[in-house]
Amino acid sequence: MIRAARPADYPAIQDIEQRAGQAFRTVGMDAIADDDPFSDAELDAYTASGRAWVSTDQADKPTAYVLVDIIDCMAHIEQVTVDPAHARKGLGALLIEHVDGWAREQRLDGLSLTTFVEVPWNAPYYERLGFRRLAPEQLDAGLKAVRSHEAELGLDRWPRTAMARPLAEPLEPLQP
Ligand SMILES: CC(C)(COP(=O)(O)OP(=O)(O)OC[C@H]1O[C@@H](n2cnc3c(N)ncnc32)[C@H](O)[C@@H]1OP(=O)(O)O)[C@@H](O)C(=O)NCCC(=O)NCCS
Repeated sequence: MIRAARPADYPAIQDIEQRAGQAFRTVGMDAIADDDPFSDAELDAYTASGRAWVSTDQADKPTAYVLVDIIDCMAHIEQVTVDPAHARKGLGALLIEHVDGWAREQRLDGLSLTTFVEVPWNAPYYERLGFRRLAPEQLDAGLKAVRSHEAELGLDRWPRTAMARPLAEPLEPLQP
């Protein structure tokens, strides 16, 4: 099931991030695998504003999580990560669909994210979920700032792109 993340989930979320990140070693991106997971304070910002969800197993233990910002009227997927023990069962796609439903409720315009172009489970994966790459000149101010910050952090050592997709279903017209 998918539910809102809460502070008691932080150790599991941090453990998932640390273990899932190891996959980046297989493509020579050790620096990404070595990244520190989100701190409790960083996670607080997402849980306190209702923009963090986990999928859970039958014991209510997190198996995957997603963190979302609101940028340029879009639900921006800051991070989606699946426990490697539960990978390739559709949990990543399920969480993204959950965010899509939330974005519709919030009257946002769509979903966005930034990701690595050449990592098989990054841009090619999101393309299969309906995301399209955005050229630098297509970025609004918020996403431009995200990309600049990422460049400052050194993430552009590997080809990286912003991507977006519209909401899965159009909004019902509002009744007058
Ligand atoms: C990217 C990620 C969230 C996908 O979640 P998932 O639940 O495994 O993905 P889904 O089950 O929805 O989709 C599976 C598809 O993802 C792609 N995929 C997942 N892991 C992959 C891997 N190691 N290598 C290549 N493709 C992969 C494949 O297309 C796969 O389809 P297939 O199993 O039919 O080949 C997950 O692999 C993950 O947490 N990765 C590490 C962290 C990360 O890179 N997060 C995204 C960047 S912020």
